[in-house]
Amino acid sequence: MLSRKIFGRRQTLLGLGGLAGIGASVIGTELNKQYKLRQIQRDSQNRNFKVTSNTALGQRAATKGLIYGAAVRQYALSSDTKLAESVVYECKMIVPEWELKWNYLRPTPTSFNFAPADWLADFSRRNGLLFRGHTLVWHEALPIWFPKTINSKNARQLLLEHITTVVKHYAGHIHSWDVVNEAIDPRDRRSDGLKNTPWLQFIGQDYIEIAFSAAAESDPNTLLVYNDYGLQYDTHEHEAKRNAVLKLLENLKSKDIPIHALGIQSHLSGYETRFNPDKFKKFLSEVASLGLKILITEMDVADNKLPSDIKFRDPIVAGVYEDYLSVALEEPAVISVLTWGLSDSYTWLSQNKPRKDQATVRTLPLDTQMRRKLAWNAIARAFDKATKR
Ligand code: G3I
Repeated sequence: MLSRKIFGRRQTLLGLGGLAGIGASVIGTELNKQYKLRQIQRDSQNRNFKVTSNTALGQRAATKGLIYGAAVRQYALSSDTKLAESVVYECKMIVPEWELKWNYLRPTPTSFNFAPADWLADFSRRNGLLFRGHTLVWHEALPIWFPKTINSKNARQLLLEHITTVVKHYAGHIHSWDVVNEAIDPRDRRSDGLKNTPWLQFIGQDYIEIAFSAAAESDPNTLLVYNDYGLQYDTHEHEAKRNAVLKLLENLKSKDIPIHALGIQSHLSGYETRFNPDKFKKFLSEVASLGLKILITEMDVADNKLPSDIKFRDPIVAGVYEDYLSVALEEPAVISVLTWGLSDSYTWLSQNKPRKDQATVRTLPLDTQMRRKLAWNAIARAFDKATKR
């Protein structure tokens, strides 16, 4: 009854009464979206994103025993001085967004090119930043030669050689490695929840165990992480993924496989309302109860479906950052937060989720001029509120 009333009024308000030729369900969905957006907008407009000082994010996090960092690209960091200054000022850790993936590291099946990633490792050393590795085993960002070369005879050896060489190369200087990335996908309908990737196909389900064991042997002192996305919302899909990830982690722990943490990517949407703090907290505490740490590894908030006017857009994005991080940081096992980029000038979302109005996406803490936005305030507030680890 209530929703009919709202929709009835909204239909007139939005001038959608004339859409009589379009199917009722299409109008219903459109109205539902408009309604949701108004609701999100109204809530965020009334929020106060004030912060108590100008202290940088990394410093604020450090006060609470947390590590704040961001993903970086070598070409950007080496050519954009303002970006480089901001990264050094705001962050305590960096992670290469591209340069440690197979398509960068492996020009041929028998060679390695460490140059771009080494530049970043050196940047981190020179500037006193921690360095994180992403990622040793993934089914994306593979070199062109990969599908033509891999088969069930050589896959295991190829994987072992890659992990051993790369992990040893950075041993002693790496905070943590995303050893395996995005291996779970319940949509592939396997009982173990694993995604049907070339690694699974050519090695078998123990490729994950093989990868973690090889990484631990090559650098016994780094934190070994399983990293995945799609774990935060109260939807059937995310629920299935949480369950499958938990099952995988439990299984690895029960076999004494050297895994130390879960990386929750946290690519959020400014438009999504199905975040249930209780369910998410329960998941975090279940992970923690396995003796694992948790890292928020790739946080950003997509703004592609949000209004053009940044007076409305920015508070919505900021609200999502603050709500999510406040809940995540209540879990003591969460040790670090990384955003997937620092400035809106360098974000995968401008390519992957561009705005229909062609406006610059505003998904990260700093804008394209390296100025702090409300998203920055939101992250700062979440750190300030967090209890000390
Ligand atoms: O190689 C060219 C480069 O030379 C050129 O400067 C650049 C200009 O746009 O294009 C480069 O290719 C890009 C490539 O990354 C670099 O290998 C592609 O356009 C770009 O689409 C590609 O996407 C990256 C993707 O991973 C694959 O590596 C995204 O930027 C990066 O944000 C994304 O990161 C993933 C995480 O690894 C795992 N979790 C999800 C996350 C987002 O998809």
